[in-house]
Amino acid sequence: MIYIGIDLGTSAVKLLAMDENGTILKTVSKEYPLFFPHPGWSEQNPEDWFTQSIEGMKELTEGIDRSKVAGIGFGGQMHGLVTLDENDKVIRPAILWNDGRSQKETEYLNNEIGKEKLSAYTANIAFAGFTAPKILWMKKNEPEKFAKIAKIMLPKDYLAYRLSGSFCTDVSDASGMLLLDVKNRCWSEEMLEICDVREEQLPKLYESWEVVGTLKSEVAKELGFSADVKVVAGAGDNAAAAVGTGTVGDGQCNISLGTSGTIFISSKNFGVDENNALHSFCHADGSYHLMGCMLSAASCNKWWAEEILHTRDFAAEQAPIEKLGENHVFFLPYLMGERSPHNNPDARGVFFGMSMDTTRADMTQAVLEGVAFGLRDSLEVARKLGIKIERTKICGGGAKSPLWKKIIANVMNLKVDVLEVEEGPSMGGAMLAAVGCGAYPDVETIGKKMAHVVDTVEPEEELVAKYEECYQRFRKLYPTLTPLF
Ligand code: XUL
Repeated sequence: MIYIGIDLGTSAVKLLAMDENGTILKTVSKEYPLFFPHPGWSEQNPEDWFTQSIEGMKELTEGIDRSKVAGIGFGGQMHGLVTLDENDKVIRPAILWNDGRSQKETEYLNNEIGKEKLSAYTANIAFAGFTAPKILWMKKNEPEKFAKIAKIMLPKDYLAYRLSGSFCTDVSDASGMLLLDVKNRCWSEEMLEICDVREEQLPKLYESWEVVGTLKSEVAKELGFSADVKVVAGAGDNAAAAVGTGTVGDGQCNISLGTSGTIFISSKNFGVDENNALHSFCHADGSYHLMGCMLSAASCNKWWAEEILHTRDFAAEQAPIEKLGENHVFFLPYLMGERSPHNNPDARGVFFGMSMDTTRADMTQAVLEGVAFGLRDSLEVARKLGIKIERTKICGGGAKSPLWKKIIANVMNLKVDVLEVEEGPSMGGAMLAAVGCGAYPDVETIGKKMAHVVDTVEPEEELVAKYEECYQRFRKLYPTLTPLF
C-alpha cells in the first residue's frame, strides 16, 4: 500500500509517497506566494494551498499505481487563522504563524486576562503568532468579516476539509491556537468565551493518526485514486516532523531548521515551564511536548543569500568558512520579530561587531551562528527545567548544510543525529496515515521503526568552550538593544 504525506509549509507544499516499509517512492514540492501586505504581516491564500496540493499529488503519483494509495496524512504550518463563511467561502487571506499584527491583542490576553489564567486554561500564554490573538484582531479591525465566520480552522485542516469534507483538526496543531485545554485535549470553554468563539465554529478534535473521513468522490476521480482513500487528521508541522524523525516517546529531541527554527522535546507527561517561555503542546503520538520556536531560521540564511548577496548557491557561500568559534561578527536573527523566548514582535535583525577586515564569509557565518544561538536560548530554558538532553535529531532545509549541523552541535553541546531521510513533516504525515490505515499499531512503533540514524555530528570539547564564550556575548545583545526596537 502507498501512504501520502503532505507538508503544508510556508514557502511550498512538500509531498511524499512511501510504502508500508517506509521506502520513499517519490517527493514533490510546489511553491506558492507569501504576502507581506504591511511590515510584520504575513498572509497566504488557502486556495493556493489546495490547488498546489492537488497538482502536487497528481505529479507525485505519476508512474505509480494510484489504486494502491491507501491513506493521506498532513503536517501543516501551525497557528494560521483560516476563516470560512456559511457558504464555505474563505473570508480573508489566512493570517500566518509569523504574522505580528496582533501585538495589542496579545498584550490584552497576557496582561488583562493574565498569564496565570491563560496558562491554567491552555498551558500556554499568548504570542502574537498564535491563533486566538488573531481572532481578537479580526473582531476589532474587521468586524463585518468577523461576523461572517462560520468555521475557523488551521491551514492543514483547510486541506482536509477540501479533500474529505470533514471539518476537523488534531490536538497537536490545535494546541497552538490558545483555545485548547492542552492537558485534557479538549477545547477550553473559558478561552472560547474570552475570544467570542462558539464551539460549533471550531473543528472536531482528533488525535493525529485518527481517520477523519475518505476522499470526496470528485477529488478521488480527479486524482485517479480510489474513493476509499482514508484521510487522517495529521499534525502541526513540528509534531509531524518529530514523528518523521522518530522523536517519539519520552525525552527525545528534534531540531527543525526550516523557515522557522524549532527545538522540540517529547514527553510522556504533561508539563509547563514556570514562565511559559516554551510552548506546552500535545504531541502527535498521543503524549505531549515542549517546544521553543524562532520565527526566522533557514529564512535568515535565505534572506541573506538571496536578497542581499543575490545568490542561491548556499554551499558556495559556506565553502570559505573554516574557523569556527572565533567570529567577531554577531547576527541577531529577529527578521520577523521573535517568539521563543523573547515574545517580541518588534525585535529586528542586527549585525554587530564588523570591522575593516570583516569578510562576506564572516557575515554568512554570523547568520548561521545567530540562528544556532537563538535555538540555544530555548534549550537553556529546557535545561533550567532540569530536562537533560544530550542528543538531537535534525531536519528541515537548513539540515542539508554539514557546516550548519556542526555549528549547532557545538553551540548547543549536543550530539546531532543525522537521519537517512530529512523530510520531517511530510514523512511524519505519511507515517500518521499508515497508522490510521492500520498498517502499524501506534505512532511510537512506526516512529522508532522508520527513522534511521546514518551519522552523528559530535560536539568537540575545544570548540564547545569557544562557542560558550561567543554565546555569552550574544545573549547580552538582545536585552541591550530591546529599548531601541
Ligand atoms: C511553531 C511555528 C512554526 C510553524 C512553521 O510554533 O509557529 O514552526 O509551524 O510552519
